[in-house]
Amino acid sequence: MKVLVVGGGGREHVLCWKIAQSKQVDKIYCAPGNAGIAEVAECVDIKPMEFDKLVAFAKENAIDLTVVGMDDPLVGGLVDEFEAAGLRVFGPRKNAAILEGSKAFSKDLMKKYNIPTAGYETFESPEDAREYLKTAKFPIVLKADGLALGKGVLICESFEDADAGVKELMEDKKFGASGNRIVIEEFMTGREVSVLSFVDGNVVKIMSSAQDHKRAKDGDQGLNTGGMGNFSPSPFYTADVDDFCQKHIFQATVDAMKAEGRPFKGVIFFGLMLTPEGPKVLEYNARFGDPEAQVVLPRLQNDIIDVFNACIDGTLDQIDLKFSDEACVTVVLASDGYPEHYEKGFKITGKENFEGKNDYFLFHAGTKFDAEGNVVTNGGRVLDVTALGKDLKEARAKAYEATEWVNFDNKYMRHDIGKAIDDAQ
Ligand code: AMP
Ligand code: GLY
Repeated sequence: MKVLVVGGGGREHVLCWKIAQSKQVDKIYCAPGNAGIAEVAECVDIKPMEFDKLVAFAKENAIDLTVVGMDDPLVGGLVDEFEAAGLRVFGPRKNAAILEGSKAFSKDLMKKYNIPTAGYETFESPEDAREYLKTAKFPIVLKADGLALGKGVLICESFEDADAGVKELMEDKKFGASGNRIVIEEFMTGREVSVLSFVDGNVVKIMSSAQDHKRAKDGDQGLNTGGMGNFSPSPFYTADVDDFCQKHIFQATVDAMKAEGRPFKGVIFFGLMLTPEGPKVLEYNARFGDPEAQVVLPRLQNDIIDVFNACIDGTLDQIDLKFSDEACVTVVLASDGYPEHYEKGFKITGKENFEGKNDYFLFHAGTKFDAEGNVVTNGGRVLDVTALGKDLKEARAKAYEATEWVNFDNKYMRHDIGKAIDDAQ
């Protein structure tokens, strides 16, 4: 069969890599892909929001299955367009992807169905938001309602901070229209855990847990980013936590979406905070995490095509998801200055050091070929250096060892990815 993957980051690289392992797959295309994805798929020069072109490409090339990796096209309704054209596609429809596309929607859903999350209020005018903040408890959290590349969240220590935050989100529109409406939320404390799950409209099966490192700098300092590194499994996702989440969060969310007439098929990513009062939902995403996918999919034992098909056909109950006992760690190599200002176009050397090794992977997040055919940096997050190990300590040591194998100007990384593991042991 022929598969098309939509996206061009590290998540889509690991997706293409995993899909390539399926015996059912003869050919993979990726739109737009990147220089690393080109090793496993044919890259197609179509942007993820060019829906008509994607549909036309899938028809012309008799694509059997399309997998949408990114949030923007999902929230924009790419799956609906494919379905309308009679094409088979993995991912939630627009009316279900809103679970990620609108924080106000997801918070209201959780409130209505008693799914544990932080208390909140929604505001459509800066004046009302400021009025509310005058009597609020600090720290407090401001969130742009819409998609903002994981960066539209501000943690404010004081009224002055929050006042500036309202200006940034709602008046200066730093994250565009996503700030037309904001959610102001109670500040929670605790460890964060990411749980990705496959969902077929009715049944939800969780993948192994992971832990992101969202801030740009060591010690969780600096700005929020899309994610600077990740590890799986999370030792903090214990059997008790799992028990609670299975009872009160995972199935409850899938049932709530169904009850709202928005059945969810695809991946739900539960961003959880393990608070002193128990696990609570920080956020939902309607897709694999990036770089969560890079640490979870190398441990997935199933043929991923079988799982995608089961989600589409509503037969996920028949799939027994299996993960290897190994641990996996990803360290993101970014371009210095990310997530704000950074340069692109630096030549990348040392990629060949990863060849022929089956416990080290170099997933490309933001790379391209220059005019001479060299692989150069093409984004804030550039490479995802990934390693498997018998436990998290070993995987972490291996991933950091491998960060030295590959180089480019302005290479920047956090040095404490997975440090929480060492601290806990
Ligand atoms: P989100 O995009 O909603 O996951 O938020 C990004 C990051 O901001 C999260 O991973 C948390 O580290 C932090 N955050 C979001 N909401 C809260 C909250 N209510 N309390 C404390 N931290 C939060
Ligand atoms: N790494 C967080 C995300 O993909 O949203």
